[in-house]
Amino acid sequence: MTNREKFGSRATVIMAMAGSAIGLGNIWRFPFIVGEYGGAAFILVYILCCFLLSMPILLSESIIGRRTHQGTFGAMNTLAPGTAWKWLGLLTVISPLIILSYYSVVGGWSFAYLTKALSLQFKPENAESVIGMFATFSSTTWAPLACTAAFLVLTSVIVYLGVNKGIEKFSKISIPVLFVLIVVIAVYSITLPGAGEGVRYLVKPDFSKLTPGAYAAALGQSFFSLSLGVGTMLTYASYVRKDENILASASGTAFFDLLFAILAGFAVMPAVFAAGIAPSSGPGLVFETLPFIFSKMGAGGQVISAAVSILFFLTILVAALSSSISMMEVGVAYLVEEKKLSRHKATFLLFLVSLVIGVLCCLSFGSLSGIKLFGQTIFNFCDRLCSNFLMTIGALLFSVFVGWKMDKKAVRDELTNGGSLKGPGKVFPALYFLIKYVTPVTIIAIFLIGILA
Ligand code: TRP
Repeated sequence: MTNREKFGSRATVIMAMAGSAIGLGNIWRFPFIVGEYGGAAFILVYILCCFLLSMPILLSESIIGRRTHQGTFGAMNTLAPGTAWKWLGLLTVISPLIILSYYSVVGGWSFAYLTKALSLQFKPENAESVIGMFATFSSTTWAPLACTAAFLVLTSVIVYLGVNKGIEKFSKISIPVLFVLIVVIAVYSITLPGAGEGVRYLVKPDFSKLTPGAYAAALGQSFFSLSLGVGTMLTYASYVRKDENILASASGTAFFDLLFAILAGFAVMPAVFAAGIAPSSGPGLVFETLPFIFSKMGAGGQVISAAVSILFFLTILVAALSSSISMMEVGVAYLVEEKKLSRHKATFLLFLVSLVIGVLCCLSFGSLSGIKLFGQTIFNFCDRLCSNFLMTIGALLFSVFVGWKMDKKAVRDELTNGGSLKGPGKVFPALYFLIKYVTPVTIIAIFLIGILA
């Protein structure tokens, strides 16, 4: 495995991992979940989840990936040959592909909305019709399908170019750009008349809304946001060089992901309150409420509101792409390493498979809306299956693998680079305790509470 590609430096590792982490989860999911579960109180629980539960999982995946320099399947075979752990390897080849498929539908919507923003459709005179626009658009057949396919083509092209020329290059440019864009939008949003209420909503905790379901939601959201439990971070870590400090790169990734989610909250919520809309308006928030707000704002300065709407959907699209490439890379690593396919064949095959599932997910908003799996549309079924189930199980198993199956010395070696890193050496006992006991027990508890509540 000596000629395997590696990320160039610490900064590029963090950019690539943050690129995977920062995505629709931060901009599309986080604001409405915060809205649903009581603002700042939820954010506090979310931050605790990130550092006490998600960080140990991110570290576990990093340890396994960097130790073996292999994708999930190969890593399991190397560290636990001939055991049932290979199923975890296989599971984590399948789950990111399902996520990629339905994620591409939302990626496709962002693409479509960027073109709507560019063709100045969010005008004041359209304000009322903008709300219904999303339901109409997503339930038609050809336009959303074409957008889903276009999004998948873009993803495949970047993955096809490789780890250094594709993924690393794209993330190095996109992450700084995304931060600039989201700060610009947040400043605009906070300075709108009536935005103060939205800011207060984000910073003033309402503990009465912290139901048991809120804890499960915080956990699920933090796993989704950090791309955990399906081998994405493991695969990226397998491209990290041996002399890199994986505690530093994992902490940097978690920090930027959290910062971006909070900035996205400040970009979205103040505008929502300024427009006098209820904060918990569900997944339609980004594709109904915001276009409505952009149209209304047009009355006060059409050029600025048009520019902000373009920047906003561009942000979503770029963030979605830097995540979708990480999902596809998991399968590509598997096919290249285990099945000996060339990189371009592997990419093309995964493009086709995710296109087929993506088409089904996309049509489940329109012509296939009558098809129900366990009472859910195809899209919702895929989302629930992955975010509530497969990711949680995967995350749990990764921490159990590192805490209970791997040799403790190997784990310490990997975190401290054979003892040469003093900082990670000092915090190792605490981290190991988190990985071995705290994380698995809490995940099981929250999982059960979420199911029973
Ligand atoms: N973390 C990304 C987001 O917030 C999505 C993502 C990328 C993901 N890779 C993943 C989610 C793997 C789950 C599993 O949008």
